[in-house]
Amino acid sequence: MRKPIIAGNWKMNKTPSEAKALVEALIPLVKEAVCDVVVCTPAVDFAVVSKAIEGTNIKLGAENVHWAASGAYTGELSADMLKECGVEYVIIGHSERRQYFGETDATVNQRTLAAVKAGLTPIICVGEKREQREAGYTNALVSYQTLIALAGLTPEQIENVVIAYEPVWAIGTGLTATDEQANETIGVIREAIRSTYGDVADKVRIQYGGSMNPKNCKGLMAQPEIDGGLIGGASLKAEDFSKVVNFDK
Ligand code: PGA
Repeated sequence: MRKPIIAGNWKMNKTPSEAKALVEALIPLVKEAVCDVVVCTPAVDFAVVSKAIEGTNIKLGAENVHWAASGAYTGELSADMLKECGVEYVIIGHSERRQYFGETDATVNQRTLAAVKAGLTPIICVGEKREQREAGYTNALVSYQTLIALAGLTPEQIENVVIAYEPVWAIGTGLTATDEQANETIGVIREAIRSTYGDVADKVRIQYGGSMNPKNCKGLMAQPEIDGGLIGGASLKAEDFSKVVNFDK
């Protein structure tokens, strides 16, 4: 009932010429995909990538967005700037933004509201650190992060939001949550959405992220609550990313 969505998160990788080569290699490999396919790239790559993906089934995403429409925010990009560059999706609240750049649940919420208002689809990242999981806080924490991020949106708006459950201990570490752990926590996130917004929760797509790759994607995607993946390392090689996108083949 929910269409799966596989998104690459390139992070701070790929110059424009490298981005062009990667996306051109990717296009033929993912053209039969049954899921939505998104590449979230550095802003300097938007021009070459949006041109290369014209007329294909690949969509362009950004890795962050500011909440203000314009103004004195050196180094930031507004939702309208992204839109005009052909961006349709935007990652918000990635754990690296939270860890290294002071992102908080409150700013994640502000960015989410700005993205939705501009017609961008946010991919909101939530997830626990290892010590939080060990202390038994995972469910409370991901529920809280999700509900704060969504505060102020209507159920109709929430329907189109994507959530990425990314356990921080699994990002870039080669450690993946087990299929069951990921499924269970994503189920918790869905119930948190249901508790506040009702049955629209069944329409929200919730991805798993954290060392997802060609080897483990099938098992994860077979879980009933998991609607896709946010892929870091494995999105930087066309062949690897295409294998995740084609998880059903
Ligand atoms: P990873 O990154 O796949 O390299 O673990 C995922 C992410 O940070 O979105």
